[in-house]
Amino acid sequence: MIHIFKYLEKNLMKSYQTNSIKNLHKISVAPMMDCTDKHFRIMMRKISSKALLYTEMIVAQSLIYTEKKEQFLDFNSEEHPLSIQFGGDDPKILKEAAKMAQDWGYDEINFNVGCPSPRVCSGNFGASLMKEPTKVAKCIESLKNNCDLPVTIKHRIGVDEEDSFDKLNSFVKEVANAGADRFTVHARKAILKGLNPKQNRTIPPLKYDVVQKLKTINPELLIEVNGGFTNIDQCINALNNFDGVMVGRSAYNHPLIWSEIDQKIYGKSNRYKKSSEIIFSLIPYIENHLRNGGETWDICKHLINLVENIPNAKKWRNLISSRSIKKELSIDYLIKQTTELEKKGY
Ligand SMILES: Cc1cc2nc3c(=O)[nH]c(=O)nc-3n(C[C@H](O)[C@H](O)[C@H](O)COP(=O)(O)O)c2cc1C
Repeated sequence: MIHIFKYLEKNLMKSYQTNSIKNLHKISVAPMMDCTDKHFRIMMRKISSKALLYTEMIVAQSLIYTEKKEQFLDFNSEEHPLSIQFGGDDPKILKEAAKMAQDWGYDEINFNVGCPSPRVCSGNFGASLMKEPTKVAKCIESLKNNCDLPVTIKHRIGVDEEDSFDKLNSFVKEVANAGADRFTVHARKAILKGLNPKQNRTIPPLKYDVVQKLKTINPELLIEVNGGFTNIDQCINALNNFDGVMVGRSAYNHPLIWSEIDQKIYGKSNRYKKSSEIIFSLIPYIENHLRNGGETWDICKHLINLVENIPNAKKWRNLISSRSIKKELSIDYLIKQTTELEKKGY
């Protein structure tokens, strides 16, 4: 009898997770090192109340051994839904990381098998792990078995010469059997020898058709496409073929254009936001950050990207960044400059 209850509970939980994860992931803002910190995420949350946000990649091993766990794990409660991305290759370490992610209150764990950085690959994780599907499956299994969160994976369509569709498909199948709840596929391969991470985000061509084929022959899997999306209409179009779309550089560099997400993707009635509204709404957050010993630049380095494609945008950004970098930016000055934007209708 107990077994039946446990079985039902497990399967109910699984179907709840599949549903909630499906709702969450129509659009997400990609994990990006040195970009998607908690300050950027809180700004992005003002832009969309619905998009799934990601942390930067956290190396599981560093998390386990550091005494300052909060530096890696802390986030603001407004950031939900929020996925924590781990890099690693040791199931025992990932087990501990999974427990921490759950205790800290994250909504999802994402496992990084897409990063081509030589530093990351020399530790034998990131994109190089695509060559070792069984190891990846063990990592996913360990994450799944040690928390109740959805566990997802982000990977490429291939690595180096291992770029056939069959390899990709068997990788995905093995990882799906290990329990991965969603596949975020960066639609280009990674070339580990000869290209740096930046080149690996531009030189290998985008092949959406490969990701499309993956979805077509695995209709039961949740597949999110990533790479090269620069506006909301492209994403809406892609949602006809995929379960989700992940946007990286465009969301970071041009955040305001993504303020249509809630309305156009999730059918919410909120109108598009203006840059001044978002900046004003961040003022209490910046004040609080300063009270806790932080600096305005921690936030302003992201916030300045809200002001673009309007007259004197560059001047506005320069005024704020030069003062902020020199630690001379007062909140009053930021309010004054933002009021100027507001008066002009931006
Ligand atoms: C500055 C930067 C840092 C990145 N850091 C990560 C990371 O920590 N983890 C990861 O999985 N991908 C990382 N990526 C890759 C992005 O998540 C994304 O896959 C890639 O930029 C392609 O999407 P896009 O064309 O929409 O930018 C990074 C990309 C950039 C530009």
